[in-house]
Amino acid sequence: MATYDLIVIGSGPGGYVCAIRAAQLGLRTAVVEKDKTFGGTCLNVGCIPSKALLHASELYEQAGHVFAKMGIQVGGPKLDLAAMMKFKDEGVDGNVKGVAFLLKKNKVDTFEGIGRIAAPGKVEVKGAGGKAQMLDTKSIVIATGSDVARLAGITIDEKRVVSSTGALVLDKVPAKLLVIGAGVIGLELGSVWRRLGAQVIVVEFLDRILPGMDNDVCRQFQRILEKQGIAFKLSSKVAAVDASGSRLKAKVEPAAGGAAETVEADVVLVAVGRVPYSTGLGLDEAGVKKDNRGRVVVDRHFATSVPGIYAIGDVIAGPMLAHKAEDEGVAVAEIIAGQAGHVNYDVIPNVVYTYPEIASVGKSEEELKAAGVTYNVGKFPFTANGRAKVNLQTEGFVKILADAKTDRVLGVHIVGPDAGNMIAEAAVAMEFGAAAEDIARTCHAHPTLSEAVKEAALAVGKRSIHM
Ligand code: FAD
Ligand code: NAI
Repeated sequence: MATYDLIVIGSGPGGYVCAIRAAQLGLRTAVVEKDKTFGGTCLNVGCIPSKALLHASELYEQAGHVFAKMGIQVGGPKLDLAAMMKFKDEGVDGNVKGVAFLLKKNKVDTFEGIGRIAAPGKVEVKGAGGKAQMLDTKSIVIATGSDVARLAGITIDEKRVVSSTGALVLDKVPAKLLVIGAGVIGLELGSVWRRLGAQVIVVEFLDRILPGMDNDVCRQFQRILEKQGIAFKLSSKVAAVDASGSRLKAKVEPAAGGAAETVEADVVLVAVGRVPYSTGLGLDEAGVKKDNRGRVVVDRHFATSVPGIYAIGDVIAGPMLAHKAEDEGVAVAEIIAGQAGHVNYDVIPNVVYTYPEIASVGKSEEELKAAGVTYNVGKFPFTANGRAKVNLQTEGFVKILADAKTDRVLGVHIVGPDAGNMIAEAAVAMEFGAAAEDIARTCHAHPTLSEAVKEAALAVGKRSIHM
């Protein structure tokens, strides 16, 4: 029987980062993972494979539609889907092996099997053959992540009715793809398959896409996606999918009730959110409290209702994002080691990796209005940015929201090429409590897309130069 300072259950971005940080701080640490590879949802069936397909499909799209405008004649590009999937799988393989290397390098012990909290300080690991071993530990971190949310009456077979996991491994381009849910997964994977040749229709329950994001951003983004060929049916829901025939028949109804219509499709992607994954962990028996949505309840120090048991990542409240899980992993390891670990939830960037990308950090206009905060808006379009113009990438804008009294930056929202990288500047500025004036007076290299961030900051004070 081994005695550990810390056992982490789950090796996703929350779990493996927590284990590495704990080991750096001198804690004897182990990770328990039920899957064959490390890295969790993010590396195996989430961030990494989806971004590989987004990157490859975007280049395919550019080769077909943009290259010729720049004098690059390649003829009509031909899709080799099997090779594209291999490219994606190799990318995933490299990443999960990288995590295995890092765990080993940091002397973190690893156990393959299903982890269960037998009691505070005791983790049982059941391997593939059903053989169980008991491990002793001072502290436990639950980092078991999340699973696909399902819809009553719609059976996911991962062949024709798929979740994101199935949508990452389709072996042919569907003639028609019906996506349920205009959230991040629906728009990213809808974009992939649209670029590769599918007709895509997205059915969304609410009257807008990407709920939670700044409305201004969503309105423009929807128009851009429609121009690219994605169709939307908002304020609608899919009540059932009939899979008995050669084509799927989806029953689409107005969200508020009313006459249903039948929409035929070859593949249906269910992308209506994710739910915390805490099955088989022994939480109820151990007395670990969950909220009404099944999330493990923690305090500001990630401590659950049972002393010595902590939780982080998708299995607790907050945005289901890999970098949020990672930062919580670092913070909880530091807290367990007696340091002052902390996560600033006001500055967690959010990126949608479509073309153009959507990126935001901080508050939306709707949130500021609801909170009664007075603010100034500085907005700058990429049509006025030299680099975007010469690259033929002029869709979108940068919008900065700054406190009307103090000029402190409260939110930054970008629709545009490479928005995901550009938002880092805004996050750093906000972490340091910057005013819009600080960004406006910071020298930005020319010609770069990031000059649009500077111009939006200048626009807060109504003095942008290039507009
Ligand atoms: P997970 O990554 O879910 O890891 C949990 C791990 O715990 C898993 O490996 C699981 O097998 C293991 N586990 C569970 N129960 C047990 C048990 N009892 N015993 C042992 N092991 C167990 N986020 C971003 O920030 N950017 C993106 O671009 C992005 N893209 C995404 C694309 C898709 C298609 C999906 C589905 C998600 C995406 N996400 C993205 C979200 C991101 O993947 C999650 O927020 C992140 O993985 C959460 O990390 P985690 O460590 O909390 O959990
Ligand atoms: P989501 O919560 O982003 O979007 C789900 C959408 O489905 C919402 O718009 C919701 O209104 C809609 N919906 C819910 N029930 C519906 C119904 N019955 N009919 C029609 N529409 C319905 O969830 P999604 O896209 O599944 O992603 C899950 C999580 O994974 C997200 O929380 C996200 O943070 C994370 N993720 C992050 C990515 C990124 O950071 N780039 C990429 C992919 C996923």
